[in-house]
Amino acid sequence: MTSTTIPVEPFDFVVFGGTGDLAERKLLPALYQRQKAGQFSEPTRIFGASRSELSDDEFREFARKAIAEHVPAADIDDGQVERFLKRIAYVHVDAKSGEGFDRLKAAMGESERIRAFYLAVAPALFGDIAANLEKAGLVTPASRIIVEKPIGRDLASARALNDAIGRVFDEQQIFRIDHYLGKETVQNLMALRFANALYEPLWNSAHIDHVQITVAEAVGLEGRVSYYDKAGALRDMVQNHMLQLLCLVAMEAPAALDADAVRDEKLKVLRALKRVNGSDSPKLTVRGQYKAGASAGGAVKSYADELGQDSETETFVAIKAEIENWRWAGVPFYLRTGKRLAERVSEIVIEFKPIPHSIFEESAGNVVANQLVIRLQPDEGVKQFIMIKDPGPGGMRLRNVALDMSFAQAFDVRNPDAYERLIMDVVRGNQTLFMRRDEVEAAWRWIDPILEAWDENQQGVQGYTSGTWGPSGSIALIERDGRTWHESI
Ligand code: BG6
Repeated sequence: MTSTTIPVEPFDFVVFGGTGDLAERKLLPALYQRQKAGQFSEPTRIFGASRSELSDDEFREFARKAIAEHVPAADIDDGQVERFLKRIAYVHVDAKSGEGFDRLKAAMGESERIRAFYLAVAPALFGDIAANLEKAGLVTPASRIIVEKPIGRDLASARALNDAIGRVFDEQQIFRIDHYLGKETVQNLMALRFANALYEPLWNSAHIDHVQITVAEAVGLEGRVSYYDKAGALRDMVQNHMLQLLCLVAMEAPAALDADAVRDEKLKVLRALKRVNGSDSPKLTVRGQYKAGASAGGAVKSYADELGQDSETETFVAIKAEIENWRWAGVPFYLRTGKRLAERVSEIVIEFKPIPHSIFEESAGNVVANQLVIRLQPDEGVKQFIMIKDPGPGGMRLRNVALDMSFAQAFDVRNPDAYERLIMDVVRGNQTLFMRRDEVEAAWRWIDPILEAWDENQQGVQGYTSGTWGPSGSIALIERDGRTWHESI
């Protein structure tokens, strides 16, 4: 099985925050990989823009290092690296004052080619950059702007940011990245649901007992102290990545795979989420914060020690969510995400209802409800657990086994990073995997009452030892309903 690369039109790609962490770890390596895959048409150009005063050559050195450190050694080809560096230039700009945008204009020149402005900067600068781009005459009908989360810290601030960008760019030109939507298995969820006749008839409250979505990380703060302590796990992971996953599991079949058809269906799910109010919040939500422990093979500090002070910010959150519509009434969606957990694993578990009646003797063992496990990372794949008879003589003994489809084993292709696909979608102008304004705002409309309830109830963080699966409250949250978190096997 080979992958197909469809070349895109020539484009100019400008990274604001060009010397930052995202550019280094994700954007430059992703662009390099797409060039290497043969997806660029010439002349495609890449501009770094930031406050640092660098020459073109100094920025090229930065890009060279970024590739050396963040592209797997097997994918580094010296000739390709040199070609890549040749298409790079650097412009020193001050996003706030607008100083330097004329230099950017001069460097880019007049043209009708595709321009992608990637804002890998603090959201407080989104509005200024958009306005300065317009003032400098850099916004053409073929321009697009790409913004990273967090888009606001509540509904009001998200609206203000969307308004500020929207004053310059049309909604069709705005690409709000949620990199989870670019992950291979996330897209596979659509194939699994809508390219197979098998699951859809069962995909509802008559046959599904509950859904679990886990995004567990082994890493801690990774140096993002000031951002993370103001955000916390609810804003950092649930408002965007986890709700997007929930939408893809729960949405109705869109009429087509085009951007608005898909996003209309996701929006309906977000709007149908049952609001968590103040009195329910302690039963439906758990906040946790990691303590010292062992993770990723070594001893690690507590969150407070990493931060250098005490804090009430959650590094873990578990939520029992409900969707109030015909398909999902009465089917809980248990969400959990956290840092410094036992391992890095992201998966979606669909647990079907138990069989209505067992014809087997007790000695045959338990009949376990069927589970479909969609593994996003690591080792992407899909496992369908089914009951079988243990082979051989000895009477009827039942066993729960997995039909195991590991993508790495089944397909001999490199799994591209989410950013590779998403950046190319921006160039193609395909918004299917990006969040529309109303989606972002609907997600905040569900998150805001949780934040308010936490505040009102002074719902504090429960400590959990690093390297475990989170606070005991998270286990209680699901066990109160007679269910347990799925253990990866
Ligand atoms: C980011 C969050 O959006 O996603 C980080 O801000 C988190 O806190 C990261 O670590 C997880 O992404 P991935 O692709 O490593 O699962």
